[in-house]
Amino acid sequence: MSTLSASRAGRTGRLISLAALALMGAGSLLGRSAGPPTERTGAGVDGGANCTVCHRGALANADQRGRIAIDAASYRPGVRQTVRVTVEHPDALRWGFQLIARYASGETRQAGSFTPNAQTRVVCGAAGTAAPCNGEREFASHTAAATVLGANGRMAFEVEWTPPAEDVGDVTFYAAGIAANNGGGNTGDMVYTTSTVIRNGAGCALETPTIREVSNSASGAPNMAFNGLTSIYGANFSPTGRARSATEAEVRLLAFPKQMDCVTVLVNGRPAPITYAGSGQINFQAPFDQLNAATVQVVVNRGLANERSSAAFSSTISQLQPALFTFNGRSVAAIGPDGTTRVAQPSVVPGARPAKPGDVVSIFATGLGVTNPAWDSGDIARNASPLQVPISVEVGGMTVPTADILYQGAAAQAISGLYQVNVRLPMGLGAGDQTLVIRQSGLASQAGVTIPIVP
Ligand code: HEC
Repeated sequence: MSTLSASRAGRTGRLISLAALALMGAGSLLGRSAGPPTERTGAGVDGGANCTVCHRGALANADQRGRIAIDAASYRPGVRQTVRVTVEHPDALRWGFQLIARYASGETRQAGSFTPNAQTRVVCGAAGTAAPCNGEREFASHTAAATVLGANGRMAFEVEWTPPAEDVGDVTFYAAGIAANNGGGNTGDMVYTTSTVIRNGAGCALETPTIREVSNSASGAPNMAFNGLTSIYGANFSPTGRARSATEAEVRLLAFPKQMDCVTVLVNGRPAPITYAGSGQINFQAPFDQLNAATVQVVVNRGLANERSSAAFSSTISQLQPALFTFNGRSVAAIGPDGTTRVAQPSVVPGARPAKPGDVVSIFATGLGVTNPAWDSGDIARNASPLQVPISVEVGGMTVPTADILYQGAAAQAISGLYQVNVRLPMGLGAGDQTLVIRQSGLASQAGVTIPIVP
């Protein structure tokens, strides 16, 4: 499963998991030390390709003696700053890079602009036309002269970047670099990729945030569950109209960010990982190491002079709070036997299909407690991790035999608070929307959830 967007009625519940990273794209073999083609930083939003398209050999980042780093301080709107891209490898003699800057809230959007200098050339869009780019996507790359400088195991390229004139929230940089052997060709060179997210150092212009509700992201039940995916509703969390999910760059380190744009969520005073932040809603993951009474606070511009904090909202964290994600508040978020097709009426989710009796479907939940292995909140569950407290499943009033619950645990490659249950649907199910309930330790998932069945 690569992405699951699930919501309950009338609300923008959102879930993120790892964006699939496409590795390769097509590329023609042209003489390129004068500057690589565009869209080669490895950013998924540009197709995911990097310099290995032509500089064949090991995959990017395979040779662990080298690395690439982006050094960028938080920005002040409109104030030009230097972004340093450093490529290192003990054996390399020649260097190159490509760097992009995008809105974290929408990575197709160009953030600010690069200014060419002796080390940097700037070209625009897929075709790599000459700057100025006038708002089109910009690609900063090495100049031919710069590739042969600095043969002492590392090369730092200094790129001039002017941020957008207005506060646009977080900005994401992606870079690819080459630590080359100066062979004059495209073999024997090491490729590295990286990304980073920077904030607006002036903070967001916001009033004091207020919290109205803290509830289970799947069911809307009040309060939090151990490691559970949780939503906060209220006001002044982000500037009006600004909303975003965790980016591929943030998730790349296999953990979700504990500050998104200007927003921090504190649970018992400690920052919690955030998956989505909008002006009136935040989705985050509750802690894995605290239970019972807990306070929740939303802090904007944390650590800046204009920091503002909501009042502490009193909540609780329980060990278990079984809750099913749905597509529309009713139709359970489920994936069919092929692992990709969503199970729903097409009127609910375009392209989806109802399930058949006997199908093995995956349904998604939160609040199912400790898994083995256990994951920290904010982690990506990197492999199958069964529940410690088993669940039972009831479909259309029939209890599914334990042998037909093929997996119950963390959803692999997703945030650790997302649970997946693979269940074989009973053969005797009739046509139509059948109720679906999971039970765990005497607790039931929310009422009114159904799965559509066709014979
Ligand atoms: C479309 C194919 C292609 C892509 C993509 C490509 N290169 Fe190259 N590159 C070449 C070729 C061919 C050469 C050798 C000829 C030359 O130097 O012009 C080369 C040479 C180089 C050299 C000189 C290497 C040496 O050992 O002398 C550097 C540095 C370089 N590329 C950097 C990059 C970087 C950085 C990227 C990714 C951002 C990249 N290239 C992507 C084709 C490509």
